[in-house]
Amino acid sequence: MIEINGITKKFKNETAIDYRDMVFETGKSYMLLGASGCGKSTLLNMIAGILSPESGSILIDGEDMTQKSQKEKDRFRIERIGYIFQDFKLIEEMTVLDNLHILRLEGVDTSDAGDILTSLGIAEKKNAKIKHLSGGQKQRVAIARALVKKPDIILADEPTGNLNFAIGEQVMRELCEVSQGKTLIAVTHDDRLAKYFDEIIDMNEVTGGKRDLFSEQEGK
Ligand SMILES: Nc1ncnc2c1ncn2[C@@H]1O[C@H](COP(=O)(O)OP(=O)(O)OP(=O)(O)O)[C@@H](O)[C@H]1O
Ligand SMILES: [Mg+2]
Repeated sequence: MIEINGITKKFKNETAIDYRDMVFETGKSYMLLGASGCGKSTLLNMIAGILSPESGSILIDGEDMTQKSQKEKDRFRIERIGYIFQDFKLIEEMTVLDNLHILRLEGVDTSDAGDILTSLGIAEKKNAKIKHLSGGQKQRVAIARALVKKPDIILADEPTGNLNFAIGEQVMRELCEVSQGKTLIAVTHDDRLAKYFDEIIDMNEVTGGKRDLFSEQEGK
C-alpha cells in the first residue's frame, strides 16, 4: 500500500504543488487524470524516490520514502518499482534484449527477459536495435524492461501517449493484465481507457492546487 500524506513539492521556490492525501492499495490499478502541469509526473517521481517533497510523507508498506537516503531510495526503486517513462529512456543503439539485460548492472536477474518479451508479443524483435522499432514496439519494450525485475509497484507515465488509439488500447490492456496482483499507477489523458482501471483519480480535484509563490509574494 502506498500512502501519500500532506505532500508539498516546491521547484526553485517558484512553483508549489500541494497534494491532497491519497492511498494506493496493493493489487489495484489506478488511472491518474489531470491537466498538463498539475503534478502527475512529479507525483510518480516522488513515489519512485527520484524527487523529494518538501513536507509530508510517502509511506510504501509503512516505510517512509522521504526518510531514506538517496542511496536507499535508489535501491528500493531498483528492487520494487517498475517505472515506464513517457519518453521510454531506452538505449536506441542497443538491441531489445540488451536493453533488458543491461539491468544486470543493477543486480537484477534478467533470466526471464525472453519470456516477458514473448508475453508482450515483441519477442521476434529481440535482436533488433531500438532505433529500428515503431512507437508501439518501443512502448512494449519499455513495459518489458519495467517488468523484468518483477516489481510489485508499476508506475507508468503516459504509457500510450505515443500510440494511436487502437494500439494504445491494446498496450494498456496488456499492461493491466501483467499488473494483476501488483499496484499499478498509470498517468493517461485518454479517459476512454478508464474501463481498464479499478479507480480513476482526477488530479485536478486531488491536488490542492498549484501555487505560484512568486506572485503570492508580489501580492503582499
Ligand atoms: N524540474 C522542474 N523544475 C521546475 N519546475 C518543474 C520541474 N518539474 C516540474 N515542474 C513544474 O511542476 C509542475 C508540475 O509538473 P509535472 O511535470 O508534474 O506535470 P504533469 O501533470 O505531469 O503535466 P503533463 O501532463 O504535461 O505531463 C509544472 O508547473 C512544472 O512546470
Ligand atoms: Mg507529466
